[in-house]
Amino acid sequence: MNYFKQILRFAKPYKQYAILNIIANVFYALFGTLSMISLFPMLKVLFNDTKALNTKPIWNGISDLKTYAEQYLNYFVTQKRNEGTDDVLVFMVILIVSIFLLKNLFGYLAMFFITYLRNGVLKDIRNELYHKTMALPIAYYSEKRKGDTMSRIATDVLEIQHSFLSILELIVREPLMIIFTIASMFLISAKLTLFVFIFIPVSGFFISLIGKSLKRKSGKVQKEQGIFLSIVEETLSGLKIIKGFNAEKIFGHKFETSTNRFYKFSNSLLNRQNLAGPTSEFLGITVIATLLWYGGQMVLKDKSLDAGLFLVYMGLAYNILTPAKAISKASYKIKKGNAAAERVLEILNTESPLKDKTNAITKSSFKDNLLISNVSFKYEDTYVLNNFSIKLNKGKTLALVGQSGSGKSTIANLVTRFYDINKGSITIDGQDIRALSKHSLRNLIGLVTQDSILFNDSIKNNMLLGQKNATDTDIIEALKVANAWEFVKELPNGIDTNIGDSGNKLSGGQKQRLSIARAVLKNPPIMVLDEATSALDTESERLVQDALENMMKNRTSIVIAHRLSTIQNADHIIVMQKGEIVEQGKHEHLLGLKGVYNSLVKMQSINTPTE
Ligand SMILES: Nc1ncnc2c1ncn2[C@@H]1O[C@H](COP(=O)(O)OP(=O)(O)O)[C@@H](O)[C@H]1O
Ligand SMILES: [Mg+2]
Repeated sequence: MNYFKQILRFAKPYKQYAILNIIANVFYALFGTLSMISLFPMLKVLFNDTKALNTKPIWNGISDLKTYAEQYLNYFVTQKRNEGTDDVLVFMVILIVSIFLLKNLFGYLAMFFITYLRNGVLKDIRNELYHKTMALPIAYYSEKRKGDTMSRIATDVLEIQHSFLSILELIVREPLMIIFTIASMFLISAKLTLFVFIFIPVSGFFISLIGKSLKRKSGKVQKEQGIFLSIVEETLSGLKIIKGFNAEKIFGHKFETSTNRFYKFSNSLLNRQNLAGPTSEFLGITVIATLLWYGGQMVLKDKSLDAGLFLVYMGLAYNILTPAKAISKASYKIKKGNAAAERVLEILNTESPLKDKTNAITKSSFKDNLLISNVSFKYEDTYVLNNFSIKLNKGKTLALVGQSGSGKSTIANLVTRFYDINKGSITIDGQDIRALSKHSLRNLIGLVTQDSILFNDSIKNNMLLGQKNATDTDIIEALKVANAWEFVKELPNGIDTNIGDSGNKLSGGQKQRLSIARAVLKNPPIMVLDEATSALDTESERLVQDALENMMKNRTSIVIAHRLSTIQNADHIIVMQKGEIVEQGKHEHLLGLKGVYNSLVKMQSINTPTE
């Protein structure tokens, strides 16, 4: 119920639809009950059971409703008889048809209005989930499967719509229907109705038995959905490796294991849930059978009940079954919906640890220096950076070199604040970056990552991420700087060419030049290049190298280099090993040390003799 309340918050903007729905439902329930009762005069007339009455009855208030209605009917029929026509029957038929028509009209209207609420809530939860998904820090996803998050946005939200929100549909209609029906049953025979009441707690008990464990079962099903979606997602992105390693069998097996579990879980869930309908129908018919026995005696033996009324009464009692069934089903749906809501709210209620402070500073320029002082950082249990300090002055280029795993990319992650440091501080112009708004910090920094991250869109739209107001000329200019224009201009649609999923229609080097161009277009004061040239062949590397040097001239850059040839001209080179600085200085100085740097350079010149 707790989750239900939290989800209900999303219904608030659609309040007016809820109100219209309630109004329509009141009429639906009213006409629903009347439609049963309207059969009564029909029966009376058919059985020729009306007493002659020539005086119009007098209205004595609601307490006398039953007598008044009966007398009025007798009066009406007598009148018509006196006129000597068949109009009574026609009138009754018209009455019944119109009441049923009204009932169904209002039933449709009620659903019509609630549809906007249901789908609106679905839309809003999805939107909020998506925004939250982007807002949560990268670390949040390191242990989570992408498919699981996708499944929450896609299927769990849908489950909420199916289960929780379908309850909104019933929450007014069915109870009202029951209240109206029971009220009319009371009017017909209080004794019989009290007798029915004994059965309600008994039925409730049986129904609640079935509902147990439904939430747990449903949670399992939803979770499994996340698992197999993850496998699909991984398969699609790793298709080349799966095929290349002939690993189809392994993945096929993995997937089938998951769908098998899904099969088992959902069988058990569905079977449990399917018990609801039959059980409540059987319980209902038991009640009716008992009624038949008890009420039948009232009609036949003590003649305390009119036969026609008893028929209507039975009709009403049966009429209660449908809403009662719907309500017992709804209680299962709540349990099922709870499991889905829990998974959705888990994301929505996660507070990002990297959230901007309330008085976060907006910084729009870089004047002086970037300082990393005594920083220690760990992703999980072991520190990957220890007491690490560097200073980068405006206009200078700082290079980070070292074996893979030495913590170079980690520095890029920390400066851009994808993660927060554990100890020490990172400041820009003396301002701690944790005090800045993330938006303004990231506006100051241009990032080119190790793996060029591009999107399935045109070259132009990929570039526009860097600066959304850029003109085509700006884009071409940036492409030229990154030496990407030479291949882009050859493409069939130029900058409007679609580059495929993750840019896979391009070569590795082309992708990398494109992501460099994107950073160039953004034109930030600080540039962070994480092995931006690693996927380039020697020739294009030279092209890009010139471009990078051009670009870095008036900029402050942190260059993480895989190829040492790209950083020889850096103002300062930091040699890292296991998260610590082992050597630093200029290229010549480091060579002279004949230490780690020297051996790294030597290794590379053997491996790549062309350089
Ligand atoms: N998301 C992560 N979660 C846990 N450990 C990580 C993560 N990213 C990197 N590491 C670890 O941190 C260390 C430094 O990694 P990284 O900075 O990427 O190295 P480099 O860029 O120098 O090759 C490595 O030992 C790596 O295993
Ligand atoms: Mg790296």
